[in-house]
Amino acid sequence: MTSKKPAGRVRVALLGCGNVGASLASMLTDPNRLAEIEMHAGVSLELAGVAVASLTERRPSLLGVPAQLLTDDAKGLVERDDIDVVVELIGGIDPARDLIEAALRAGRPVVTANKALLATVGSELADLAASNGVELLYEASVASAIPLIRPLRESLAAERITRVTGIVNGTTNFILTRMAESGEDYHEALAEAQRLGLAERDPTYDVEGGDAAAKIAILASLAFRREVRASDVYVEGITAVRPIDIEFAAHLGYAVKLLAVAELVQGGPDLSVRVHPAMVPKSHPLAAVRGAYNAVFIEGEASGELMLYGRGAGGAAAASAVLGDLVVAARHLRSGGSSPAPSRRGPVSFRPLEELSSIFYLNVDVVDRPGVLAAVATVFGHHGVSIRSMEQVGLGDEARLVFLTHVAREGSMLATIEDLHHLDAVDRVGSVLRVIGSSDAPDPSAGPGLARP
Ligand SMILES: NC(=O)c1ccc[n+]([C@@H]2O[C@H](COP(=O)([O-])OP(=O)(O)OC[C@H]3O[C@@H](n4cnc5c(N)ncnc54)[C@H](OP(=O)(O)O)[C@@H]3O)[C@@H](O)[C@H]2O)c1
Repeated sequence: MTSKKPAGRVRVALLGCGNVGASLASMLTDPNRLAEIEMHAGVSLELAGVAVASLTERRPSLLGVPAQLLTDDAKGLVERDDIDVVVELIGGIDPARDLIEAALRAGRPVVTANKALLATVGSELADLAASNGVELLYEASVASAIPLIRPLRESLAAERITRVTGIVNGTTNFILTRMAESGEDYHEALAEAQRLGLAERDPTYDVEGGDAAAKIAILASLAFRREVRASDVYVEGITAVRPIDIEFAAHLGYAVKLLAVAELVQGGPDLSVRVHPAMVPKSHPLAAVRGAYNAVFIEGEASGELMLYGRGAGGAAAASAVLGDLVVAARHLRSGGSSPAPSRRGPVSFRPLEELSSIFYLNVDVVDRPGVLAAVATVFGHHGVSIRSMEQVGLGDEARLVFLTHVAREGSMLATIEDLHHLDAVDRVGSVLRVIGSSDAPDPSAGPGLARP
């Protein structure tokens, strides 16, 4: 490590004092907590400065931060000589990226919770940290206080991980749970999430799957030791999921969840990294994850199945993980050593979605007349998609056919849907959901592990 070793207190620059930053600031100005940390971790932390975007006279009392610590000059704070560690809690790409790079170049370890930045330029930042001999720590970035980064980087460093499946977005899990348990439609459940402060006024990043994509990119990079970015992730959100799908799923023994999946296809080297709503058997541990909770299910060759569970968001929970990283960075500054840098095993190739296989659920509204079912079944057969079960629900002059297929290729399923649209008797092809974590006849193209689709 090239960074200097502070003899006494480790002085912390905090960039951003919003939900997470304000919680962290209150922890770092609580003498009892600081004394506890010093006693059990052997490091003494001191909040040396706090940068915010807008500095008004009332800010110090509103934030509970001493006025002399507050500044609106984040760059100036990062470059101050007396700073030992920088914590970035601004979020987004700019100016967070510049500020982190400046800190790393100045030989200062950085702690961040910034998933959007890590899923975009995480490997560049990791390289910059390594070339400056300092640490870049980001335990809070994926699921706040749920330990995921350190377990993947350190505890599972020798494990051959085959699949990571997560419910990593609390907003969408709350909405889907609400739809399942109270029968509300998507819009009603979203409004309730917003009323409770569990969804942003503009919920796009959460409900369209962008947040989960950034998180699974970070987890996939660590689990498979390859460079995976948010832009590599196939993404479908939850806005098209309807109460009828959730009802049918429940009737068939499944829960509907927004899953973030990263897996080695056929044992590798290709990866598949994707976010989409899926039907999960009620017996699967992920099906029991309700409300705003998160869980990540990890499958490894020797480790078997592991699940990490907890509240995946919230200022205090995220601040707790940031503080844990700060203690690690401070210890290393004090006594030497460093956390292992994420290793990368060379180029990554992604298996196109059309080549993956899964069991599918889909519902089709048809005119209720003789021969229609046979015509629909012929389309499935034409594309080699074998039907596992079918139920028919009467809708006056129409009928809704609800299918569950055997394992089928995504490409074949897409071709089936395309042809169904061209049948005269078909009024509407409704939701299509992949079924995850359910067994079927062995499928040579599916990935390894127990939770095979
Ligand atoms: N909230 C969570 O539950 C959670 C959980 C895990 C991870 N995270 C991550 O933690 C990070 C922070 O999230 P948050 O919810 O705390 O965000 P937030 O509430 O929006 O706070 C952002 C803070 O950054 C400050 N800021 C913005 N531009 C700045 C600039 N140019 N210079 C200095 N400060 C600037 C803002 O200043 P003003 O106060 O003056 O506007 C504000 O204090 C994000 O990367 C997020 O993804 C959040």
